[in-house]
Amino acid sequence: MTSKPFLCALTGDVQAVPPIWLMRQAGRYLPEYRALRAEAGSFLDLCYDPVRAADVTLQPIRRFGFDAAILFADILLIPQALGQDLRFAEGEGPILDPIRDGQALAGLAMDGLHDRLEPIYETVERVRGHLDSKTALIGFAGAPWTVATYMVEGGGSRNFENTKVWAFRDPEEFGRLIDLITEATIAYLARQIDAGAEAVQLFDTWASALPETAFARWCIEPAHRIVAALRESHPDVPVIGFPRGAGLALADYAARTGVQAVGLDSAVPVGWARQAIQNQCTVQGNLDPLMLVAGGTAMTNEIRRIVSAFKDGPFVFNLGHGILPHTPPEHVAALVDAVRSAP
Ligand code: CP3
Repeated sequence: MTSKPFLCALTGDVQAVPPIWLMRQAGRYLPEYRALRAEAGSFLDLCYDPVRAADVTLQPIRRFGFDAAILFADILLIPQALGQDLRFAEGEGPILDPIRDGQALAGLAMDGLHDRLEPIYETVERVRGHLDSKTALIGFAGAPWTVATYMVEGGGSRNFENTKVWAFRDPEEFGRLIDLITEATIAYLARQIDAGAEAVQLFDTWASALPETAFARWCIEPAHRIVAALRESHPDVPVIGFPRGAGLALADYAARTGVQAVGLDSAVPVGWARQAIQNQCTVQGNLDPLMLVAGGTAMTNEIRRIVSAFKDGPFVFNLGHGILPHTPPEHVAALVDAVRSAP
């Protein structure tokens, strides 16, 4: 039994006050993050430094009292742990050595996975030791499709041309990449849970890129495998799926993956989600991150609209995507107040 409101919401409880956390709640919009990041050197150095990464994870909890902390790490640590070169160029985002065929794929392996990711497990352990009895700890990983787009394109991408053409032209070979990421993700999340994560979220940021059949194969199927494996090994730990931009296919995703909660992006109409998703599982979302930048009455009206749509079912308040770096921290404090006092 848990008394943590966030975990209760994930197991289907309807709460008078919705629990709240925000995607990317630790990050550059906080001066205390920028200070620790400067001390650590690079973003990746910070990810692999358990003392500082634990501190960064806790910063938004101290400041805003969110109902859940999310491990500070990145979805691209998995490709790196599989043997792919990764760096973050200042102001440019991630750069990887592209994997575009079976030969490049053969250079990746699960062997060193846990050795490389050991510092992340240590971060989880440290954070868990610092949380009070009301605050939960979320572990996470990228969903295989989204991680594959970065691995194949070699970084961010506008239309995922290399990844999609590979997946469409040679699904058997591309499927081996997805299988490898899926296997690594299961092992990684299981170890995060062993170290103290109480729920996990799968970020499928680029689910929007795929037509119906490909979405079923490259987003729903791997998520289903991950959920099923974790259900076997860790039956009580809920999984949140966030297939961003999936639109109407969210209903299939909720029905077929077995996730306990679905994260909604800001474009999802709340009335539709209430009857198509919230009747199947918990919903999480979906304030537009730019509403949080705008603040004021526009933001509080939007918060009321979202809370009143979802408050009679299992619900976790969140944004529809991550906090933006130029978000004023005082708007975040106002958001938390508004959610907790919404009629
Ligand atoms: O939510 C949290 O606070 C936990 C930490 C977290 C980060 N990235 C830290 C981060 C999480 C959950 C992520 C997920 C992530 N990473 C996703 C999926 C969610 C999403 O936002 O779409 C993706 C696609 C990535 C890959 C990634 N990491 C990119 C493309 C970039 C560069 C763009 C950017 O925002 O700078 C990152 C860097 C990154 N990950 C930062 C942080 C705090 C900024 C690094 C810095 O300090 O310079």
